[in-house]
Amino acid sequence: MAVKRKLKKARDAHRSKANDEGRALFEAKELSISVGKKVILDKVNLKIREGDCCALFGPNGSGKTTLLMTIAGVPGYTIEHGSMFLDGKDLRGLDAHERANLGVFTAFQQPPEVVGVKLRDILKICLKRKPKEDLTDKELRVIERLNLTEFLDRDINLAFSGGEKKRAEVLQMIFSKSRFILLDEPDSGVDMESLELIGNEIQAYLDADKKRAALLITHQGRILDYVHTKCGCVMLNGSIGCYGGAKMILKDIQEKGYEGCVKCRQKRIMTIRQ
Ligand SMILES: Nc1ncnc2c1ncn2[C@@H]1O[C@H](COP(=O)(O)OP(=O)(O)OP(=O)(O)O)[C@@H](O)[C@H]1O
Ligand SMILES: [Mg+2]
Repeated sequence: MAVKRKLKKARDAHRSKANDEGRALFEAKELSISVGKKVILDKVNLKIREGDCCALFGPNGSGKTTLLMTIAGVPGYTIEHGSMFLDGKDLRGLDAHERANLGVFTAFQQPPEVVGVKLRDILKICLKRKPKEDLTDKELRVIERLNLTEFLDRDINLAFSGGEKKRAEVLQMIFSKSRFILLDEPDSGVDMESLELIGNEIQAYLDADKKRAALLITHQGRILDYVHTKCGCVMLNGSIGCYGGAKMILKDIQEKGYEGCVKCRQKRIMTIRQ
């Protein structure tokens, strides 16, 4: 019995080590970004492994959205220094649509309103469906699950409430089947029932394919009750100040504030290294 227990322990240890050392889906190395003449991100390093959801915290204006926009390839963000890779492919020089084709999906902090384009049209684009082809019954059930059936023939995001926009973003994510999802505050302005719905949908999406991964920005962190995040990091003044367990970081921020959290963790890392 003792031998069996030891073997199981060794196997579990190996498995958890393998998880820690899983294959990187996304990697940013020493990434510095400017908008116009203003440098916003300074030497950002980030690695997100297949199967992981990384929570990104940080005060207003620290550069979180800038990082997501840069990864998505939105024009206007200039790479001053460094590199970034998706599945080993260099993203620099690729347009937003090329990155989307490689598997990058972005759920925006402030989803844009597009007059003349219906939610139904966008969903068909996500599904790579021809305009004349119908949505299937299965797809309609997913739309119903997100309480968006009555929005199908409305212009995308036009006069949608804050929560409705966030649900529409999650719906597009589901239909896109993208491997790397960038979620910019999917929980902001969302009521408690929608928060649970959105959180569960994101988790189910990640569970459906262990090769998927996510980078999720959140301020309050309540979505982490539904989305399991192993890793987290804090952006402060354009740099990532610390890395660690998402829930631990959230607790530190609540207790010590952002600067206190970053300082404290740096101290802890130095102590461990000594
Ligand atoms: N196009 C731009 N022109 C000038 N400054 C910009 C531009 N885009 C972003 N910035 C500035 O860069 C900084 C970082 O902005 P960013 O939107 O990335 O912050 P954030 O961390 O996402 O904040 P929040 O939590 O409020 O969403 C801010 O000071 C912002 O004003
Ligand atoms: Mg932002």
